[in-house]
Amino acid sequence: IKRIGVMTGGGDCPGLNAVIRAVVKTAILKYGLEVVGIKHGYRGLYLGEDEFVPLTLHDVSGIISKGGTMLYSSNKDNLFDYSYIDEHGQEQRGDVSDVGVNNLKKAGIDALIVIGGDGTLTSGRDFARKGVKVIGVPKTIDNDLASTDTTFGFDTAVATATESIDKLRTTAESHSRTIVVEVMGRYAGFIAIASAIAGGADAALIPEIPYDINKVADAIKENRARGKNFAIVVVAEGAKPIGGDVVISKVIDNSPDPIRLGGVGEVIAGQLEHLAGLECRATILGHTQRGGSPTSNDRILSTRYGSYAVKLLMEGKFGNMVVLDGTKLGYDSLENVIGKNKAVEESGYWIKTARAIDMCLGD
Ligand code: F6P
Repeated sequence: IKRIGVMTGGGDCPGLNAVIRAVVKTAILKYGLEVVGIKHGYRGLYLGEDEFVPLTLHDVSGIISKGGTMLYSSNKDNLFDYSYIDEHGQEQRGDVSDVGVNNLKKAGIDALIVIGGDGTLTSGRDFARKGVKVIGVPKTIDNDLASTDTTFGFDTAVATATESIDKLRTTAESHSRTIVVEVMGRYAGFIAIASAIAGGADAALIPEIPYDINKVADAIKENRARGKNFAIVVVAEGAKPIGGDVVISKVIDNSPDPIRLGGVGEVIAGQLEHLAGLECRATILGHTQRGGSPTSNDRILSTRYGSYAVKLLMEGKFGNMVVLDGTKLGYDSLENVIGKNKAVEESGYWIKTARAIDMCLGD
């Protein structure tokens, strides 16, 4: 292996630049390799040449603290089922993965480091099946990828959410309100439960535990009876009530791509105002959790991941994803990790901690 490619796919995440930097530094300084950055994820792989940029030590100098990705990203671009405009200007859909493989060959790229979440790594696995030498690096603020204890970006997202909860608590207290804070986490409640514990919230509602809104209201009322005149309820965007889906407050559904306005946080705030007797407000933290400078923990994890990915490539361990097991780095097959979302477990320390301090989990 003489020249490797690196790309970032899917939603961005604090720590992506730190991974890229570690890949470049390790590849050049430890193994004497050349590194090519592929811009805009798989879309760049499809477009070829113009999206391929040589990466030098100078290019990655000073980026460890920067949020986002210097290589940009594209979301949901899957070259095995890709929408594109053909030479006649017609929109087409189909498998264009061979274009990607040929572009790698043309650029003399012998192996590829793919930094991404489940969708990006699924394509990474599919390219590995076609013979491309791929190593995956797990990325998501949601921390819900299987096989690895932690993904980079999670620590920063929790820090951002906790800081917001701290700010919301003072205003909630001043106005004797309940503030519902909606955090990211479509399938898993790691950000919600971690930031609820760190932010001293009264309740955390997560996708893994369907909630009974009356139980949440009761918890707020009990706390009030003990003299607490305000409440903070942290809700993962994927939280669901017992026996059903959350009713989304407003959907402009005559649009070709329905726009969702307001989510579970707003629905719950409306219900709690009615049931718990305190005025309620909802705050959706949204993409603030994906932005900004990574925490020192995320910078360190990203550096370890990036460096280890290059080591795995050099050892010929293709088709694997870097994983963290306790404090140790290791790897697991992409075939094995794809499509299995990791959930917050009842027996794990997050829920145990929340229950130990009698935080309401809605059940
Ligand atoms: O998967 C990461 C994530 O941050 C989810 O928690 C969230 O639902 C999603 O990305 C948002 O994605 P988009 O930027 O495409 O709206």
